[in-house]
Formats: sequence, structure tokens, C-alpha cells
Amino acid sequence: MISHPTTVTALRANWWGLAGERVHKLFGRISGSEVVSGIAGGGTDHYGVPYSLTEEFVAVYRMHPLIRDEWHLRSVSDDSTLRHCTLRDLAGPSALKVLESTSTADLLYSFGTLHPGLVTLHNFPRFLQEFERPDGHLQDLAATDILRTRELGVLRYNEFRRLLRLKPAETFAELTDNPAWAEEIERLYDGDIEKVDLTVGMYAETLPAGFAFSDTAFRIFVLMASRRLNSDRFFTEYYTPEVYSTAGMAWIDDNTMVTVLLRHHPELRTALAGLTNAFVPWHTAGRAVA
Ligand code: HEM
Repeated sequence: MISHPTTVTALRANWWGLAGERVHKLFGRISGSEVVSGIAGGGTDHYGVPYSLTEEFVAVYRMHPLIRDEWHLRSVSDDSTLRHCTLRDLAGPSALKVLESTSTADLLYSFGTLHPGLVTLHNFPRFLQEFERPDGHLQDLAATDILRTRELGVLRYNEFRRLLRLKPAETFAELTDNPAWAEEIERLYDGDIEKVDLTVGMYAETLPAGFAFSDTAFRIFVLMASRRLNSDRFFTEYYTPEVYSTAGMAWIDDNTMVTVLLRHHPELRTALAGLTNAFVPWHTAGRAVA
């Protein structure tokens, strides 16, 4: 999602510090500074406010376009087709039927090798535009995302950016590189750039290299990613062998999502071969491993 080398380094530094994982494993925390030695194991700090996920965070995390409409379920052993599903077949109560007829390893393999949808305009999943809630009511989540963001008092796109010290868009052409979208948005908002909703602006924005979502959203993520660690005593002052035991600390340090998946499902070994990050697309069975 944010695979630019600079952001990969920045996010790892959040946990390990700029000194990095290797220094941490050899010498432990070498500095009281979270920049050098990471947030984990440092002091707890609420920065003067009780911790909560902010409404700004909730607004930028509404990434429903990530969800696909079509899901091609395949076998982990040879990539052969098991079933073509829609989101409706997989979500809610019908998910139980899929779980009964498809093994967990095949489901994990299928999800690990499918790509998510791009978080961009004109890409909202059809099934979430007419999402059938468990109570039977139909809901248009695309409209709901905008409505909720407004009713929760989150600012419109330009004002939101100003308060983040980011440059607001002065014109619709400045908002997006796509001239057709600029024209559509201008028409929709009667030529008033200040009215453009946060969700619309973020989905229209030209993305930084290697990013799968907007720079505007990223600013909020970086802040919240640090704050959820800073404020949590179990990641900071209690992140010690006295609380977790020495074996427990080593367990956390030495495991990743890849090792967790493989412990439970060794069948995924080929699909995950050589990957250090389980959140990139996995290898497809039957194709050469790069
Ligand atoms: C099958 C997939 C999904 C379904 C069916 C679904 C459905 C929903 C529904 C029904 C709501 C409540 C809407 C309301 O306020 O009335 C919601 C809220 C939300 N969804 Fe999703 N969603 C899905 C996937 C995702 C994904 C992938 C993300 C982000 C990566 C996401 C982020 C959110 C957020 C941030 C909210 C607002 C939560 C809040 O009000 O505090 N959702 N979603």
C-alpha cells in the first residue's frame, strides 16, 4: 500500500527506531529517543490528550474501494479453480457456506494471491453500493462514507489539508491530474472547490510514487500509527521481559505474519517462499518463484 522505499524505512523505524532491527537484536535499546530506538519499549506518552482513534482517522480509513466485487477461489496445491464468487457470496451469513466447502488454506491462498481494488474515483465495489446489511436493509456505502464523514464534523478536503499544513487545491485541475474527473467534480460541486468532500478529494488526488492511497490520508496514518504505540503502556513502559517474559519478547521479535501463517498452514510454504512481508501478493502455484 505504501511501498515507496522512504515510507517502508519510516514505518519500520516507528517500531525499531532508525538504529534498526539488527542493532536492537544485538544491543537492545541503545537510546531513550524514539527516533533512534523506536517507540516500542520507550516511555508512555499521551501528549496531553486521552488516547482515541480520531474521526479524521476513521474518515481516511474508509477504504471500501479496496474490496473486490469478484473473487476467484483457487486451490493452494495447483492454482486450479474451485469457485467464482461475488462479494455477496462471501460476506455476511453466506460466508459460512463458503467456509464449510472451502479449506482455510485454499481461502488464504486465494486471498493472498488476489489483488485489492485501487482506492480511487469510479472504483467503488458494486456490491457495496447495494450492500445488504444483516438486518435486511440495503445500504449504499459509497454515499454513506461521505454522509458519515460530514455528520461526524470532519472538514471538507481543502480545509482538512490546510489544518495539516498541506497546500489546498486552488482549482479543480490542481486537485487531480485527470481532466475528465476535474470537470465532473467541478460540475458536481457547482464550481466551489471548498465544498469538495474529503473522500472525493482523496480519491481524486494524484498519488505519490509507490502509494496506493493519497498523501492526505497518509499524514493521518503516520500520526495515528505512532500515537497508538506511544499511548499504549503494553507497547512502551510494560514492553519488558518482566511483563512478557524473555521467551515472549523473543517470540514477538522473531515472528512475522509469514511465520504465523506457516505455523498454522505449512501448505502455504511455496506461495510464501522468500517473502518477508505477507501483505504483498503471494506467489501463484505452478509459476516460477522470482
Ligand atoms: C466486505 C467488506 C466490507 C463491508 C461489508 C463493510 C461494511 C461497512 C459498513 C456497513 C459500515 C458502517 C456504515 C455506516 O456508518 O452506516 C462500515 C464502516 C466503515 N468501514 Fe467498512 N466494510 C468493508 C470493508 C472495509 C475495509 C476494507 C475498510 C478499510 C480498509 C473499511 C473501513 C471502514 C471504516 C473506517 C468505517 C467507519 C467505522 C466507524 O464508523 O467508526 N471497511 N463498513
